[in-house]
Amino acid sequence: MIKVAPSILSADFGNLQRDVEEICNANCDLVHVDVMDGHFVPNLTIGPVVVSAVAKCATRPLDIHLMVENNTFFVELFAPLKPQYISFHIEEEKHPHRLIQKIRSLGIKPAIVLNPHTPPEAIEFLLKDLDMVLLMSVNPGFGGQSFIESVLPKAARLNEMRNKLNPNCLIEVDGGVSDTNIKSLKDVGVDVVVAGSYVFKHENRQTAIQNLQI
Ligand code: DX5
Ligand code: ZN
Repeated sequence: MIKVAPSILSADFGNLQRDVEEICNANCDLVHVDVMDGHFVPNLTIGPVVVSAVAKCATRPLDIHLMVENNTFFVELFAPLKPQYISFHIEEEKHPHRLIQKIRSLGIKPAIVLNPHTPPEAIEFLLKDLDMVLLMSVNPGFGGQSFIESVLPKAARLNEMRNKLNPNCLIEVDGGVSDTNIKSLKDVGVDVVVAGSYVFKHENRQTAIQNLQI
């Protein structure tokens, strides 16, 4: 079954505890946290003060997605919150293998994110060291954008690579995910989906999460 990680970027930040508790009670699989620094992406979100408040009320593990320039600094900042995953963008890291080892040494599962233009071959030689690869299906920075279809053949290619090199490595897709594309994502081997606006704008968030857990 596909795992669902609602992105709290689309939550009501005035009622963050209520929204985090609601998605956890609705049986989401992970809580996706988008960290943006205003440099790597043209948006600025939350730091460890807010994320630690989320960690306190979340009963599901955190999936922290870094969209930042200085990955190592942010990994050290968020590691004490004990997320299950920290993912960083390959486009912004000179020494990805070293950073993967660092994340793992902190007891966290390392993941790498690929922007829409980055081919899966960019991480071929890192795949065996990763727990998850996150494919962006929108340009990072904002919720509520439309799904970029080219992620489907890309996920299919990554699926073949990981079946050969590291079958335990999960494939996650982030951006524009809804009940209209979930079946195509499952068909190409995607294991985890991030969904922000689809879940938080749905009149029944539990139904929305269940619609994606196919
Ligand atoms: C975009 C973020 C996403 C975003 C997804 O940079 O990484 O996690 O919140 O939002 P939707 O599901 O609305 O596209
Ligand atoms: Zn994200």
